[in-house]
Amino acid sequence: MTLPPNVHDAEPIPAAARDAIDALMQSGDLFRYTAPQDAPVALLESEFAELLGTKYALAVSSCSAALFLSLKALGLPRDARVLIPGFTFAAVPSSVIHADCIPVLCEVGDNYRIDMDDFAAKLDNVQAVIISHMRGHTSDMDAIMTLCSARDIPVIEDAAHSLGTTWHGRNIGTIGKIGCFSFQSYKMINAGEGGILITDDADLVARAVIMSGAYEHNWKKHKGPRGDNSSELKEAFGRWQNQLPLYNLRMSNLSAAVIRPQMPELARRVHDGLQNHDYVAERLNSSPYINVPAPLVPERRAPDSIQFNLVDLSDDDIRAFAAASEARGVKVQVFGLSEDNARAFWNWQFLPEQTELPQTRNMLMKACDVRLPVRLTGAELDVIADILLASVGEITAPKIAFGT
Ligand SMILES: Cc1ncc(COP(=O)(O)O)c(C=O)c1O
Repeated sequence: MTLPPNVHDAEPIPAAARDAIDALMQSGDLFRYTAPQDAPVALLESEFAELLGTKYALAVSSCSAALFLSLKALGLPRDARVLIPGFTFAAVPSSVIHADCIPVLCEVGDNYRIDMDDFAAKLDNVQAVIISHMRGHTSDMDAIMTLCSARDIPVIEDAAHSLGTTWHGRNIGTIGKIGCFSFQSYKMINAGEGGILITDDADLVARAVIMSGAYEHNWKKHKGPRGDNSSELKEAFGRWQNQLPLYNLRMSNLSAAVIRPQMPELARRVHDGLQNHDYVAERLNSSPYINVPAPLVPERRAPDSIQFNLVDLSDDDIRAFAAASEARGVKVQVFGLSEDNARAFWNWQFLPEQTELPQTRNMLMKACDVRLPVRLTGAELDVIADILLASVGEITAPKIAFGT
């Protein structure tokens, strides 16, 4: 019998990372700016930019740092209003506050994507937007870009969970002005911690590079596409020399050494993650009490977890479902019901403006989250699906029997 799998561990880190780390241990060269060129962080940046199809990449200490630097690079004034989805991780409004801006929340629908009517209604009073593709669910980027371009509002894509996701075949993170990714453990590429920012805009990347901690002339170690030190980049660095504060959010060579050997694994992980997700989704959708929302048509996802809504069940039923699943060995997070959940907007009590979002609240009260690391086998996926279906069956059996 297959036991419920451990869903907290990621894949083992490829052996090549150990060799790279050994070499760093020998040389002691852990700081990204010590080597004259080709430090692991610099190589990661050029490889990542090439993989995603952008001109520039800047590796930093976390996706939160990348979001903060993006807002600072845009030069937003103090108290600028930044529109973000009401369903995201607390680090996102936190990065807005860190940048001295004010988060404005918009409604999210039952399919975990931005509600476009509420987004459009709130757009005229904001100076930037961050689109969190929460848990890898892509919001309607065509509509978002049309609305924002018409008003000249810059779009930052929070693609923390979206490495490998495409929209009309184009990589998520390359559609807005800046894209930010996370290498924190529960992501497609795992370095424990880490983040990266991508953009085609030389001025924005030059500002972000300097503020990330490229003091003095360390910016000379940042290159453009295919290692060029393009004139637009040099001019941009020249413009910003000594003009910006240094926040020191750099990535260490050790993190880059862990990340780089995982990049060739990405295509397989995306493929397996999607296949696993869709298999479990189909099984769960066989229950009338479970709905796994469909992707949007232009979207090809790269999931390492599954989200589904419980249908026609009370809060008590939903709690009973989560408890029954946990007792059988599968942990279900109900975003709105677990205590102090960092993805429930009412727990962001540090926000200067509190907003009620009835639609998002309603979704969070019935939306369940289960990790599905891409390494799971078919038998393990079946165990998870069996447990979830048995748990929903257990709590709904009396309803069916009495026809309520
Ligand atoms: C949607 C989203 N955005 C941003 C972040 C921040 O990422 P990091 O932990 O790398 O700062 C997270 C963290 O998981 C996240 O879930």
